[in-house]
Amino acid sequence: GNPKPLLGRKAIVTSGPTHEPIDPVRYIANRSSGKQGHAIAAALAALGAEVTLVSGPVTIPDPLGVRTIHVERAEEMRDAVLAALPADIAVMVAAVADWRVASSAGEKIKKQPGEAPAPLHLVENPDILKTVGHHAMRPKLVCGFAAETQSVIENARKKLETKGADMIVANDVSAETGIMGGERNSVRVISRDGVDVWPDMPKGDVAEKLAEKIATYFATS
Ligand code: C5P
Repeated sequence: GNPKPLLGRKAIVTSGPTHEPIDPVRYIANRSSGKQGHAIAAALAALGAEVTLVSGPVTIPDPLGVRTIHVERAEEMRDAVLAALPADIAVMVAAVADWRVASSAGEKIKKQPGEAPAPLHLVENPDILKTVGHHAMRPKLVCGFAAETQSVIENARKKLETKGADMIVANDVSAETGIMGGERNSVRVISRDGVDVWPDMPKGDVAEKLAEKIATYFATS
């Protein structure tokens, strides 16, 4: 077959966590290594797509052949994603923090020994996937991830609707799976056509299979 089926297609991928500052030295974050998102960016590029990767703080290198934009906070990630539109493909893999501190302190908050700590006032972060899924410049294929520990498929189906996504890649991130931060992943891909169950495999293989599935989507619709 064609080795570069995504030639001429633009893709946006988010990856990694976001860090939401509490003060200059502290932050709130979700756990995410960025391994799966970065691998997907690389796999889409390998099939010929022009990829913009918007990455939160990670310790892994930028993938080769991909334009990588580094951000820290969810609002910065959203701005970078919207600035990269229009695109044909959006794959939102980042583990965006659901909340940020309403007004982070400009100076380090001092610990007062023996006194109750200052409460953190949290506000909801923008939902980047949902914003892209309902955008006037919505990419033709919008794919999200769902890290769940229960009712994985049922929740993913709901997410197709609420997020305006065509595809949700669901994984069970229960601690005993070892997926979080690990090298392997075991996913189910939920779309309106049904559910694909993929065996446990390296994150790089999940990325290649997903990129192939995306290429098929463009070849057949
Ligand atoms: O709602 P939930 O966080 O479970 O949804 C996960 C999906 O939504 C992932 O694709 C994630 O990248 C995306 N997401 C996002 N912005 C948020 C929260 C989640 O893009 N604020």
